[in-house]
Amino acid sequence: MSQKTSNEMWGGRFASGPDAIMEEINASIDFDKRLYREDIAGSKAHAEMLAHRGIVTAEDAERIVAGLTEIEAEIEAGTFTFSRRLEDIHMNVEQRLAELIGPAAGRLHTARSRNDQVAVDFRMHVRGAFTALEAKLGDFIAALLDKAEAHAETVMPGFTHLQVAQPVTFGHHCLAYVEMAARDRSRCRDALARLDECPLGAAALAGTGFPIDRHMTAAALGFSTPTRNSLDSVSDRDFALEFLSVAAICATHLSRLAEEIVIWSTPQFGFVRLSDAFSTGSSIMPQKRNPDAAELVRAKPGRINGALISLLTVMKGLPLTYSKDMQEDKEQLFDAVDSLALALAAATGMVRDLTVNETAMRKAAGHGYATATDLADYLVRELGLPFREAHHVTGRAVSLAEKSGLGLEDLPLDVLKSLDARIGEGVYAVLGVDASVASRTSFGGTAPENVRRQVAYWRQRLAAE
Ligand code: ARG
Repeated sequence: MSQKTSNEMWGGRFASGPDAIMEEINASIDFDKRLYREDIAGSKAHAEMLAHRGIVTAEDAERIVAGLTEIEAEIEAGTFTFSRRLEDIHMNVEQRLAELIGPAAGRLHTARSRNDQVAVDFRMHVRGAFTALEAKLGDFIAALLDKAEAHAETVMPGFTHLQVAQPVTFGHHCLAYVEMAARDRSRCRDALARLDECPLGAAALAGTGFPIDRHMTAAALGFSTPTRNSLDSVSDRDFALEFLSVAAICATHLSRLAEEIVIWSTPQFGFVRLSDAFSTGSSIMPQKRNPDAAELVRAKPGRINGALISLLTVMKGLPLTYSKDMQEDKEQLFDAVDSLALALAAATGMVRDLTVNETAMRKAAGHGYATATDLADYLVRELGLPFREAHHVTGRAVSLAEKSGLGLEDLPLDVLKSLDARIGEGVYAVLGVDASVASRTSFGGTAPENVRRQVAYWRQRLAAE
């Protein structure tokens, strides 16, 4: 069919074919070919249902299904020729089916439209993306749990405002990311539960007069139930928006870890060393080990947030039901799926391979008067001072230490006694970083015993899920 002849699919009322620019702006095959598996599965389920309901003959349905199986094999083998003239995956597949099985192919499109077809294809694709994301998050969590367990007792400075605040354990820090990733996983599940309705059979927008069985196709395609409203079925892209929202939040979490890895791996911090496998060298400065993978993970929210805003903007203000605008739902989602998968894999790899410099972490934890709160707590506990007053006394201790260039734990007892004569030898037990973290046994606190308990909790929970 040459470019200017009318289209086989709707050519009945068209005298000529599309302008080349029209074809270019209209075609989605270059990216929606990624939906071929879902498209073929949807068509098979539809054909079988049509036969079951006596809308097409069993022989025709068999021919259709066999043809579709052949097409899938062709696409997988790379021998299928995709054509822009045929616009999208749906028409590319249908046209090839006609070549393979003849007129029976024309019966497949009974009681459906590309509107419900693309809705079900895309929904199944997003379902797969959620499931894959869930699995990848599981790997990431497993890597974090291993590090957390290995470093339940490794003391590092905890920060607020990126200023040394209180000593914490590196294991506890890793577990903070476990919490985030686990919430990301549960967001996947929430969204999957909402997505679990099949739009196939809504037809163009109003349903159909053919006696179709939507429960049958829903079940065949792994959905619990058909969607309840045909208009919504062909207009809804919430599931894609939810994927992008979940992806944006997850990518944001990963970017925070990535940023920490960038900071920690500077020679100034020296808390961690990335493996050679996740570092790059400089072509000019031989001493450098650059955390490129971490930087790229840090950057991924750029495109993932972009995809979310892009689809929100495409959908905003669209009147019901289907408009071609909605064809713009795919490319950026696909990109977000790939970007996030890669970012997660890189984050998992970096965490697994990370070498922790325990000495540097411990040393830094002792800097910056990180145990000042422990001193204040001691004054409250042992001397009965109100916390506000204890805070003041401790402030004076810090100031004295600062003036003499000492750590809190290096201040002589008589100096401490000058602040409050009741301060005794026992104070030194709370000024060390190990004592500090060991004391933080409140639920959710950083103590090594808590870290071990939380690691066990998560392992058990993940195994049960
Ligand atoms: N390629 C289209 C899309 O992705 C398929 C649906 C086309 N429907 C239509 N009425 N033109 O949205």
